[in-house]
Amino acid sequence: MLAAYVTRTNSDDPLSALEVGERPEPEAPEGWTTVQVRAASLNHHDLWSLRGVGLPDDRLPMILGCDAAGVDEDGAEVIVHSVIATPEWRGDETLDPKRTLLSELHQGALAERVAAPRANLVPKPDSLSFEEAACLPTAWLTAYRMLFTRAAAAPGSTLLVQGAGGGVATALIVLARAAGLRVWATSRSELKRERAVALGADAAFEPGARLPERVDVVAETVGAATWDHSLKALKPGGTLVISGATSGGDPPAGLNRIFFLQLSVVGSTMGTRDELDRLVRLCVERDVRPVIEASMPMADARSAFEALAAGDVFGKLVLTR
Ligand SMILES: NC(=O)c1ccc[n+]([C@@H]2O[C@H](COP(=O)([O-])OP(=O)(O)OC[C@H]3O[C@@H](n4cnc5c(N)ncnc54)[C@H](OP(=O)(O)O)[C@@H]3O)[C@@H](O)[C@H]2O)c1
Repeated sequence: MLAAYVTRTNSDDPLSALEVGERPEPEAPEGWTTVQVRAASLNHHDLWSLRGVGLPDDRLPMILGCDAAGVDEDGAEVIVHSVIATPEWRGDETLDPKRTLLSELHQGALAERVAAPRANLVPKPDSLSFEEAACLPTAWLTAYRMLFTRAAAAPGSTLLVQGAGGGVATALIVLARAAGLRVWATSRSELKRERAVALGADAAFEPGARLPERVDVVAETVGAATWDHSLKALKPGGTLVISGATSGGDPPAGLNRIFFLQLSVVGSTMGTRDELDRLVRLCVERDVRPVIEASMPMADARSAFEALAAGDVFGKLVLTR
C-alpha cells in the first residue's frame, strides 16, 4: 500500500528522510482493527519523527502520521484516536508513562490503511467530511485539552495564542472563540495575522509586541522564541499552558516572574478519547470546523511536507485517497 514513511532519520535535513512509496499492509493484533484511510492530516510531529525525535532506529522503517479518518472493517465511518495506552492502563490515557502515538511504536496513519485498537475508534458524524475529521485527533484535541482541561479558560477571559498559523494555534483560536473568550494572537507573518483575525481572533500582533493589557491565559506551542513574551503577557495569577516548543525547548527561565506574580505554568499533551468525543460533539453542535489550508492526494505527500517544514501553512494540511 502507498504510504509516507521514514527508513533513516535525519536530524538536520528532515525532508531528505521522507520516503513516499509502497509499504506492507498493517497487522492488527488481538483487540485491534484495520481502518481504510480516507484522509490523514500532517502534524509538526511528523517533522520531529523525520528528525528522529522520539523515533529510535530500532523502530524503523516507520509509517508517519498520527491522524486519520476512514472506514472500519464493518463499513462504519470513524476517526482514529491516536493515543495508545498500554492494555492494562486505566483512566486518563495521556498520563500512561508508556503511552505512544500512532507512528511512534505502531505504524502511522499516512497510508492507505492503518491498524488501531478498536477502543480508539470514534464515530465520525456525517456532517464532518473525512478531511475535517482527520484534523481532530492531534492538533485540535491538543488545543481542546489545553484550553478546557488544563488551563480551564473561562468565558469572558482573554487568551493569547502564540504563533497563530500552526495547526494547534488555529484550533486554539477557533475553539476559544466558540467558547466565548476574547482571543489575541501573534504571528511572524502579516498575512497570517490578517488570517487569524478573519478566523475569529479579536486582534493579532507581531511577536513580542506590547499588548493593550495583560491576559488571563497564554497558549504556547512555539517555545523559546516566544517564552519571555508569554510570561510578560500574563496578569498576576495567570496561566501559561504549553504543549509544544517548535522553536526550541530550552527557554530563558523567567523564574522570578513566575513566583512573584504567582503564575501557573501548565503542561498539556494530546487528549483522552472522552475529550475527543466532546470535541467532535462541539464541532457538530456549534458548527465549528477545522481550518484546512490544503488537501491533496497521498501521492503528493512530499509537497505537503515541504510546505509544513517551510512554515508556509495556515491551519492543517490533509492527504486523501
Ligand atoms: N504535546 C502534544 O501533545 C502536542 C500535540 C500537537 C502539537 N505539539 C507540538 O506543538 C508544536 C506545534 O505543532 P503544530 O502541528 O501546530 O505545528 P505547525 O502547524 O507546523 O505550526 C507551527 C507554528 O509555530 C510557529 N513558529 C514556528 N517557529 C517559530 C519561531 N521561530 N518563532 C515564532 N513562531 C514560530 C509558527 O507560527 P507563525 O508562522 O504564525 O509565526 C507556526 O505556525 C510542535 O512543536 C508540535 O510538536 C505537541
